[in-house]
Amino acid sequence: MKRTLGVCYYPEHWPEAQWAEDAARMADLGLTWVRIGEFAWSRIEPVPGKFEWNWLDRAIETLGKAGLQVVLGTPTATPPRWMLDRHPDMLAVDAQGRPRGFGSRRHYCFSHRGYRKDCARIVTALAERYGRNPYVAAWQTDNEYGCHDTVLSYSDAALHAFRDWLAQRYQSTEALNRAWGNVFWSMEYATFDEIGLPNLTVTEANPAHTMAFRRFASDEVASFNRLQTEIIRKHSAAPIAHNYMGRITEFDHFATGADLDIASWDAYPLGFLSDRLEVTPEHKRRFVRQGDPDFQAFHHDLYRAVGRGRWWIMEQQPGPVNWAPWNADPLPGMARLWAWEAFAHGAEAVCYFRWRQAPFAQEQMHAGLLRPDSVPAQAYAEAAQVVEELLAMPEVDTARADVALVFDYASAWAWQTQPQGRDFDYFRLAFAFYRGLRRLGLNIDILPPDAAQLDAYKVVLAPGIATLSEPLLAALARYKGAALIGPRSNSKTVEFATPVPLPPNLPGLDATVARVESLPPDVPVPLDRGGNFLHWREKLDTTGSVLESCTDGWPAIVGSGGLRYLAGWPDDAALDRILTDLCTAQGLTVDPLPEGLRRRDSSTHRFWFNYNAVPVDRADFMIPAAGVHWEKL
Ligand code: GAL
Repeated sequence: MKRTLGVCYYPEHWPEAQWAEDAARMADLGLTWVRIGEFAWSRIEPVPGKFEWNWLDRAIETLGKAGLQVVLGTPTATPPRWMLDRHPDMLAVDAQGRPRGFGSRRHYCFSHRGYRKDCARIVTALAERYGRNPYVAAWQTDNEYGCHDTVLSYSDAALHAFRDWLAQRYQSTEALNRAWGNVFWSMEYATFDEIGLPNLTVTEANPAHTMAFRRFASDEVASFNRLQTEIIRKHSAAPIAHNYMGRITEFDHFATGADLDIASWDAYPLGFLSDRLEVTPEHKRRFVRQGDPDFQAFHHDLYRAVGRGRWWIMEQQPGPVNWAPWNADPLPGMARLWAWEAFAHGAEAVCYFRWRQAPFAQEQMHAGLLRPDSVPAQAYAEAAQVVEELLAMPEVDTARADVALVFDYASAWAWQTQPQGRDFDYFRLAFAFYRGLRRLGLNIDILPPDAAQLDAYKVVLAPGIATLSEPLLAALARYKGAALIGPRSNSKTVEFATPVPLPPNLPGLDATVARVESLPPDVPVPLDRGGNFLHWREKLDTTGSVLESCTDGWPAIVGSGGLRYLAGWPDDAALDRILTDLCTAQGLTVDPLPEGLRRRDSSTHRFWFNYNAVPVDRADFMIPAAGVHWEKL
């Protein structure tokens, strides 16, 4: 696979006289892709039903003739103002019952049938017009589903769609009442029309009700996206992508991704470090201009799984962004490092966001490859360097990993619905395990929760999966490698009840979670072989082999054959030890890495990424600050 670079461009933001020069400069820089159109609805259809195609025809032609391939976005993330006159009730409503306003973006409720019809109309018009355009080489649906907290909507439209969804799922209210346990607190329903949304209740809503609503909301995203892909496919053979975000777990990306050809994501490492991670102030200081050393890699591996092997970066941070609490300037070298790290993890393309910094509106403080005066900004030269380096690099794929981590969006909803301890966040838990593997220098694959084939891996981790799927349980029963399951795995039924017999109910493992406790972060529970459990632990009844214990005698890990159950949330010291033991017992070589140094193998090369602001010395080579090093395997 040939790796390529691209950029995001907004012809509608610039005088037409500038387009040709912009296009020529992009081509000259060696860019392959240019993504356009995703916010241009008010220019494509300024008045309802009156399309203005000419400008877009010319923009696509100008870019295409310069040698660029266009990724055309559907503009449904930014319905124009007139749409609200058509559908005054199309806005999403927050959990407090307040409609969200016009004047930014993503101001729609996924469930609004009238808005969906208008989306189908604009996507049809776009696909009919450009579906066979030789320069349109890929599509993007909408923009960043779920960004700005936009999946859950408590609108009337959502309420009605939810009731329909419930009627289909349960067929009768008796079945629903039974499944949810509505006898508790006299919550039983006689008809589906009596059922409300799980907000504005006096105290917490039934968690089964909340979980059903979360599943419904996720399905709404998938069906909204499918509406668009089905239309595009009728008119175009070009692949379809969506640009996902970092640490958005409100919808099941695997389900949405099933209708797409390519998963892509928008990587803003400094913004994410500033506002999306539970890390120490010292960690934030250390990596303030480089980003967290594992956050990007995690999403690369996640979206490689969501895209069933095909994935891109659709937007790559090129300089300071505008939206985080603090917006540092990336160290020289980071715009190159981030791109190479994506390629090492198998990205087909990396597109920088955006071509030129806009001197107006919300993102005027957001850097681009060019300054607002068209002078190259810092990342421009780094992008040029990546282009040069790509020419010299053989066309190879990312290496297959020996270790897999199962990731499950429904578990994120489950533990938000019922954390039972303030710190029990699913992403945080899964990411802690991922980081632990990365600290040991391992290549990791992320697997969907219904993975049915584990044989390619020596080690499989499945922390915090609320309900282990049938295919995964069957795969675990056959699995010959080492699997580490828990904490809290398989502790809920699909309907969010506690299973009896009690969890974890793993094939061939005699262990029962008799009790759980959550603890404040300053109450660690020491393990007798070093390190601690934090936040959460479980008391196991077992006649099986206890592989290690807490110092107060509660079993910490029990095992049978290759299957182990972990009865708590390990801190980093405990994780390092547990993962090292697990991997080395399977014949894997671990290479504990210094802080901020990370690696990833392709099928021919080992790549090293130095996220530190100082050089790292590795006996046989030195990696400069914010530098990349690769060597032939
Ligand atoms: C992304 C978004 C872009 C732009 C960018 C700024 O979330 O897709 O349109 O707003 O952030 O960092």
